[in-house]
Amino acid sequence: MSEEDGKAVVRGLRDVAAAESRISYVDPNGALYYLGYNIDDLVERVTYSEVAYLLVHQKLPNQQELDKFRIELVSEMKLPDPIVESIKAASLNCPPMDVLRTEVSHLGEYDPEGRDFSAAANTRRASRLIAQLPTMVATLYRSRRYQPILAPRRKFDFAQNFLYMLKGAIPNEKETKVMQRFMVLHADHGFNASTFAARVTASTNSDMYSAVTSAIGTLKGPLHGGASEKVMEMLDDIYLEEEVEEYVQGLLDDKKKIMGFGHRVYKAQDPRTKHLRGIVEDFCHSFRTSDLYDKCKMIENVVYERKKIYPNVDFYAAVAMDALGISKEFFPLFFASSRISGWVAHVLEQYEDAVLLRPSSKYVGEFGRPFIPLENR
Ligand code: CMC
Repeated sequence: MSEEDGKAVVRGLRDVAAAESRISYVDPNGALYYLGYNIDDLVERVTYSEVAYLLVHQKLPNQQELDKFRIELVSEMKLPDPIVESIKAASLNCPPMDVLRTEVSHLGEYDPEGRDFSAAANTRRASRLIAQLPTMVATLYRSRRYQPILAPRRKFDFAQNFLYMLKGAIPNEKETKVMQRFMVLHADHGFNASTFAARVTASTNSDMYSAVTSAIGTLKGPLHGGASEKVMEMLDDIYLEEEVEEYVQGLLDDKKKIMGFGHRVYKAQDPRTKHLRGIVEDFCHSFRTSDLYDKCKMIENVVYERKKIYPNVDFYAAVAMDALGISKEFFPLFFASSRISGWVAHVLEQYEDAVLLRPSSKYVGEFGRPFIPLENR
């Protein structure tokens, strides 16, 4: 037995700092910072394009830099034809998040800079991925509805283009504002599981497409970005507000997790929740949103009363996406369309850090088992 086996296991890597990072800080007391800026100071004052620039270039752009970045994003949004054809050909039985994971990996085949892994090429690649991932989502969304695929419009800002290319209608002022807020709030979040997965892949000096593919596969799970789809299933399951208490208690009695609640880091309210709740309030003029909102408020109260835990980003995000007219199986893809900026920023940081992320395990298996030949087993 080696000395290593005396090591303490940190189950779930809870509170383990796996690397230093300058990109974002998740404050357990209920605050979130992007490159030192409190998100409360950014929401409503910056566009998603500015935040994407901030994450990748580690500074807020001035007007000239922003104009250039917007043009870069819009001109990079177009997908190579084989990717569009492959998205259209994907089986309708395949969950959309699986198609996205596969097609991001596929996109690596068509990278115009091939095997140039210089820092400058990787920074350009990061912008391309920020631009192209939402196009993939819009292409898949529309092809599943047998609707024509739309090209971005130069006059639209990035978030507005994304919604336009997805829904096929020019977003009004309120929808555009909501999209900006939604995308700003989802752009980054410390060493969450998908970001960590991306960084582990990047730490082997693998390419950015591989890292983002790892991230998408990780985001998909219901304990992470898949939670919002489950939140909507729960809201659809509860017909009347009067059923909320019994429904929540039933889940707790069965020792099941309530989707959209709890967080590994925050001990206080998730700072994104109030902004997402605000987005939902903006849409409460529609009967469906207002009904979902009332149910959400009740669930929030009951869960706090019973478990003293708060909603996380996925809870009101589900209703916000529903209010924007997005169908629930696309919720995690919407999340990925914003988080891509955080993923690529972390991949760039990991390349700079240049250290292999490779933990050890505490072996608790057997030693010295006598070998039995196949014919005697
Ligand atoms: N419903 C009921 N109880 C919960 C929940 C929940 N959603 N979350 C945590 N708890 C309880 C848990 O049962 C435990 O209680 P006790 O100490 O009495 O056994 C305590 O809170 C600590 O929970 P934990 O499971 O040790 O917490 P964790 O840090 O391992 O898990 C989590 C964090 C987010 C995976 C978990 O809260 C969860 O499964 N939530 C539901 C899924 C979800 O909403 N995921 C989205 C996460 S945030 C956005 C994102 O990253 O995508």
